[in-house]
Amino acid sequence: MIEQYFPLGIAEGESFLGREKEIQRLISNIHAGVHTLIISPRRYGKTSLVKHVIGLLKFSHVEIDLFIAQNEFSIEQKFLKGIQGIMAQIESPEKWLQSLIKFFKKSKKTWSVGIKGLKLELIPENHQDVPENILEALQALEHILAEKKLRAVIFIDEFQEIANIKISRAIEGAIRHFAQSSKHVIFIFSGSRQHLLKYMFEDKSRPLYALCDQIKLARLLPEDYFEYLQTVSKKTWKKTLPDTVFEEILEITECHARYVYYLCMKLWEQAALSKNIPTVEDVINVWQSIIQERLKDTRELLLKRAPGQIKILSLLSFGYTQVLSGRVAQSKLEMSGSAIVQALKILEEDDYIEKTEEGTYQIIDPLLKSILSQYGADYFNNY
Ligand SMILES: Nc1ncnc2c1ncn2[C@@H]1O[C@H](COP(=O)(O)OP(=O)(O)O)[C@@H](O)[C@H]1O
Ligand SMILES: [Mg+2]
Repeated sequence: MIEQYFPLGIAEGESFLGREKEIQRLISNIHAGVHTLIISPRRYGKTSLVKHVIGLLKFSHVEIDLFIAQNEFSIEQKFLKGIQGIMAQIESPEKWLQSLIKFFKKSKKTWSVGIKGLKLELIPENHQDVPENILEALQALEHILAEKKLRAVIFIDEFQEIANIKISRAIEGAIRHFAQSSKHVIFIFSGSRQHLLKYMFEDKSRPLYALCDQIKLARLLPEDYFEYLQTVSKKTWKKTLPDTVFEEILEITECHARYVYYLCMKLWEQAALSKNIPTVEDVINVWQSIIQERLKDTRELLLKRAPGQIKILSLLSFGYTQVLSGRVAQSKLEMSGSAIVQALKILEEDDYIEKTEEGTYQIIDPLLKSILSQYGADYFNNY
């Protein structure tokens, strides 16, 4: 039950909160045939948002998750499977199989198209030209959708993984070629390496440049959580949560979607045992226990970073908000201005920090921030 209230995976149903503007924007993009890129650090709620919106609409759709796509062949496989998945949603295969076979007859390549059980099988003659195979399969999908006057959404998650593939540019080129003229397929791209994605979609020399409307997901707001946590509290203890407790939860987690639910899950688990509504002290204690749980991993993670980067993260965790490359910070960090700028660039590229609207930097992971604010001083003595 508690895991349903506070899912650590996809937020769905009642546990999906806020995001009204983003939902509207994504829906209107889909209706208007505008492709969208959703961008944010990991665990801000990209996948949940897209799944939520797709669930509200009646379009055929498929999710292609490129997480750990190892090479171009597995990418091709995922695309073909996705395309077959959409076709399976259209209607019974007899209705479009002949048309599909005809379409492939005109193609330069030989495809075998058949039905196995109730499932469409789409197999290219060879895998020498993966981008071309992906393009043709997409064109075949477009052909069928056009005939049926239908539209479909293809959601490609963890899209940055394409960048690891040798022929990434050619695959991006194939997607571009198709997507810019397609009238029946709408793409939603999403992923968590912001720096890579920005490069893929914002660099003029890249195939996907200016293809998409971009939605940048920020954190949810305290008001997004208020009613929901109150409802769950009433269900659990027949009482509302004291304001101070609510505020502590959101202050400690800094409204980071994943940590809000993780902290709440632990808090509820503990308080359900004692049958008492949690106090501010409970919130702090549970957060401390999460810190202890993650301390070893975090230390190991930090060991892989350059000392300068750790010092900068520590300084940020102490609440330092002045210009980081300025004189005062230089002497605190014992680093030159240019070394600081360089370290900030790497930390930003690796999604450790992000720029706030005020132009200062913040640590993305609130747990890392808490750990460094408690233990970070050590790093200053050690280096
Ligand atoms: N709209 C939302 N409301 C509340 N919690 C959310 C929302 N979106 C995501 N979460 C929570 O945030 C965490 C990460 O969600 P996920 O969609 O996997 O993020 P991402 O795809 O950005 O990594 C999960 O614990 C999920 O339950
Ligand atoms: Mg995701």
